[in-house]
Amino acid sequence: MLTVRAPATSANLGSGFDVFGLALDAPADVVRVERADEISIEVTGAGSQYIPEDPSQNTAGVVAQELDAPARILIDKGVRPASGLGSSAASAAGAAVALNELYDRGYSREELVHIAAEGEAVVSGAAHADNVAPSILGGFTIARDDGVTQVDASLPLVACLPDLVVSTRDARRVVPDTVTMEEMVDTVGSAATLTAGMHRGDPDLVGRGLSEEVVTPARAELINGYEAARSAALDAGATGVTVSGAGPGVLAVCRSKGDRRQVASALLDAFDDAGVDARAYQTAIGRGAQVFE
Ligand code: HSE
Repeated sequence: MLTVRAPATSANLGSGFDVFGLALDAPADVVRVERADEISIEVTGAGSQYIPEDPSQNTAGVVAQELDAPARILIDKGVRPASGLGSSAASAAGAAVALNELYDRGYSREELVHIAAEGEAVVSGAAHADNVAPSILGGFTIARDDGVTQVDASLPLVACLPDLVVSTRDARRVVPDTVTMEEMVDTVGSAATLTAGMHRGDPDLVGRGLSEEVVTPARAELINGYEAARSAALDAGATGVTVSGAGPGVLAVCRSKGDRRQVASALLDAFDDAGVDARAYQTAIGRGAQVFE
């Protein structure tokens, strides 16, 4: 079987709603494929009981249909669905890269981003590329309708996953329809600061660039314990904290690998004080999907 490791991802990064994303070094989905007469899917691992194995309802199955690549697809989930850490996107990305290789389709990684985004549309209702782009390309990505820009970046991170359920549908429903000119100027300033920080590998600039006052505060209300966890992580040395994707995951940027431990502890303790179980991944910006023969 051909095996692909496709990383979890964090979309939005505060100021880049539906645009920015980054690949996490861990966790990841492992997708294994072999040729077959028809598409079949088996899912194991984190939250597998919630994931449909019907190919027309599964992101990887839709990707197989898009690539006309019938296969037996085994998905070992690294992160549960509805986490804010790009769970369904990792499966879509892993399947796209694996089936392209298995059937020698010859698509570029950029082309596979669009195919995997079609798989994402099954679960989110819209073909967002802000999770599949970093899972396929790695690093920091800027996904727009006119194409994806990838930046190799390296930063220590903590991704914290509280044991709460926030559906992407609910998280999109609370997003305001309009912004003021002041809010737009503030968001553009943050997004530019974050992008420059990614280029320079500067955790302070990236942390400042996460700041955003339209989408994030509305979504934070859906995450019990978020504000306390955010404050605790900043006190513990994080340069910035935001909601990961549609939540409930939380992303913290750290200055050094050594800072991750205390930031992770601060997040876990704060969620614990709020009566919420959580787990934390001490991670970093990572590479895109990797193929293992
Ligand atoms: N950008 C998307 C959102 C990511 O925040 O809703 C989740 O699909």
